[in-house]
Amino acid sequence: MTTDVTTVSSPIEALTPTEASAATEALTGRLFEAGVGAVELLNIYLGVKLGLYSALATEPLTAAELARRTGCDERYLVEWLQGQAVAGLTTVDGGEPASGRHQLAPGVAAVLVDETSPTYLGGLALMLAAAGGVMPALVQAFRTGEGVPYAHYGSDAVEAQAALNRPAFVHDLVPNWLPQMPGVWERLQTPARVGDFGCGYGWSAIELATALPAVRVTGFDSDDASVAAARRNAMAAGVAERVTFEVRDLAETRTDWGGPYDVIFFFECLHDLPRPVEALRNARSALGPKGTVIVMDERVAETFTADGDLVERLFAAASPIWCLPQGRVGPDPRPVGTMMRPAALHALAAEAGYARSEILPIEHPTFRFYQLHP
Ligand SMILES: C[S@@+](CC[C@H](N)C(=O)[O-])C[C@H]1O[C@@H](n2cnc3c(N)ncnc32)[C@H](O)[C@@H]1O
Repeated sequence: MTTDVTTVSSPIEALTPTEASAATEALTGRLFEAGVGAVELLNIYLGVKLGLYSALATEPLTAAELARRTGCDERYLVEWLQGQAVAGLTTVDGGEPASGRHQLAPGVAAVLVDETSPTYLGGLALMLAAAGGVMPALVQAFRTGEGVPYAHYGSDAVEAQAALNRPAFVHDLVPNWLPQMPGVWERLQTPARVGDFGCGYGWSAIELATALPAVRVTGFDSDDASVAAARRNAMAAGVAERVTFEVRDLAETRTDWGGPYDVIFFFECLHDLPRPVEALRNARSALGPKGTVIVMDERVAETFTADGDLVERLFAAASPIWCLPQGRVGPDPRPVGTMMRPAALHALAAEAGYARSEILPIEHPTFRFYQLHP
């Protein structure tokens, strides 16, 4: 069968030649800028991993001094420092990259050095690097339909996840979010049991235990490296007596979930889980008489929106390379992926047996909060 191409209409053909050329030019510019940003982020990755920004934050340094401070090769550092100056992330005093003194440009420390700063974004560079490492596996996965386990993304992925959410836990979780969760704030002022399901590095559990002295927290995560780091972090924060972590698949069929809990949190993990309904069902069974479940997940548009804003674009782009493949593992996986819209959450909650689920009116640019009533 042949198709008469002159009768096929598409948005491209509807454009005049001038409009088409302007659209091509705009896309070329957009992708070029994205490419520059991606390469700069990979250089930022080196700066974060090797402690280069931290060293430069202390005082202006020459390449040789930076090499001595960080144990890195001077010739590589000259090249890296040149790129940082060209990108506007540093300033150079006294001539050429090899001989001049380099210091961080204003604002850089709050984005790339202080890991608890509300504006810290070092995790973004780690995430990009980790995703780059699994691209060959993803090409295969797209063909076979199989998943790519989280562990295959490597330690940078785990660090990235932790780094991206930690500032929000430090600055917002207790003072801002908890008081807006009906019944939760009051309950956590008294001796209470909290579950942190999908706890990652444990920063949320640690923040809760640090700020709320009557609270005991149990964190579960299926990732060994995350749980090991969470235990170390709790010890360092001085809350290890009230915060415990265990490696466990949240969908496992078992009854000993360490409850009964007054509150169980799922912080930005439900959409990642291979079997979210089973995990929600387990949480429900582990609640005490007045217990409740809080889910923090991505603030994606309520319905499919083509040509989305920057946040929507980030989530939609992350899903096929990050969340969906990580969730398509184990027996009978049914992960939602990053684009978990409110309707999907409500459907999961209903299937898991919750009487009601609702969106909480907590403002945040990237997260939406739900409360699930058993
Ligand atoms: C996006 S990270 C969020 C981690 C942490 N809650 C935070 O906000 O930093 C998702 C977490 O879900 C965990 N996870 C994925 N599948 C799991 C499963 N089946 N059981 C338990 N944890 C799981 C991952 O290991 C990872 O730590």
